[in-house]
Amino acid sequence: MKGLSNWISLRFPFQRIWRTHISEYYTPKNFNIWYFFGSLALFVLVNQIITGIWLTMYYTPTVAGAFDSIEYIMRDVNYGWLLRYLHSTGASAFFLVVYLHMFRSLLYGSYKSPREVVWILGMLLYTALMAEAFFGYLLPWGQMSFWGAQVITSLFGAVPFVGKSLMLFLRGDFNVADATLHRFFSLHVIAVPLFLCLLVWMHIIALHEVGSNNPDGLDINKLKDESGKPVDGIPFHPYYTVKNIWGLVVFLIVFLGIVFFFPTMGGYFLEHANFLPANPLSTPDHIAPVWYLTPFYSILRAVPDKLMGVCAMAGSIAILYALPWLDRSPVRSIRYRGIFSKIALSIFVISFVGLGYLGTINVTPLRQYLAQLFCVLYFAFFLLMPFYTRFEKTKPVPTRVT
Ligand code: HEM
Repeated sequence: MKGLSNWISLRFPFQRIWRTHISEYYTPKNFNIWYFFGSLALFVLVNQIITGIWLTMYYTPTVAGAFDSIEYIMRDVNYGWLLRYLHSTGASAFFLVVYLHMFRSLLYGSYKSPREVVWILGMLLYTALMAEAFFGYLLPWGQMSFWGAQVITSLFGAVPFVGKSLMLFLRGDFNVADATLHRFFSLHVIAVPLFLCLLVWMHIIALHEVGSNNPDGLDINKLKDESGKPVDGIPFHPYYTVKNIWGLVVFLIVFLGIVFFFPTMGGYFLEHANFLPANPLSTPDHIAPVWYLTPFYSILRAVPDKLMGVCAMAGSIAILYALPWLDRSPVRSIRYRGIFSKIALSIFVISFVGLGYLGTINVTPLRQYLAQLFCVLYFAFFLLMPFYTRFEKTKPVPTRVT
């Protein structure tokens, strides 16, 4: 075996890759549960790809056949129901772990120098993930698939001058139709997943170039022992491979519990209206995307003017890209930040969750007012950040991890 591995190593540097990225990648000792979600996101990505490949074997991407092929998968294909629920629950799980992963970055300032590129690549991943979920949702050709795609593609019609042509270009027809389903299918099964895999690879390479942050926000590479190893670091393997397996088991208990017992999650993971075939002549009472996109949908609805609403929605995602340059705090972790950062982050979370919830229900004047308030607070978190992070009093950061 040793001979074989040396033979391969002379031709392909797998031993070096393993050492650099796994067995000799020094990771801070003080990772807590917030650090599970990166590897969980990786696991869910693999789940989506594998179940997606199998679903594609039985799915028909045509207006005439799509809905029936889903019913066929659910009723006739051996374990087809399991494949579909693993994939549909996987979509929600993906966003849940990615949201927690992003929140961890906010908590510990993981986006700050020198990890700006890790953050930007993460944001590109997040944007691609939203597109992937949106394209995938059209495929069952249910009522919500159709009307959701109708609403979102029509938003592009609000762009001045080129809006109508852009909308036509996206749909490939004057309405959401066969051509739209074909192109969304192609984007969902090949183009975006390839891009996602490339981005994940770049995300991890970029992280390993600068090293992982940690709950104290310290740079562990500053303090090394005689052999040049960080005193506050431990090799990723076996320490964090084992710890992450424990996290994965806990995740799987919850995830499979949902897959087997609550796959629709009361309409939050698979909306009720999507169990009816798409009907272009009958609009559902209430059109809303799946929960993970509702915060942005709420921002869109909160602004009365369509074009301005689209700009606010796009701006609410775009502003996240600028985070590393908006934060002027001398410390990374929330543990050593001042009171203003703590209050601001709490208000931000409340606003984001509030917007998300409001996006799942019908609009009333009071809810509209609330959504507008949350929308202002959402943007205030970012726009006021250069001020409150710079002037607040921070605590001294220890030299060793706690
Ligand atoms: C498919 C989605 C994603 C995957 C598979 C993924 C994977 C990972 C992994 C494995 C790590 C190292 C372990 C860890 O720190 O948890 C990591 C770190 C990181 N990720 Fe992601 N990630 C994804 C999306 C994102 C997104 C959307 C963002 C933010 C916009 C992001 C920002 C970061 C940051 C800042 C770090 C460094 C954290 C630190 O060192 O404290 N990631 N990611």
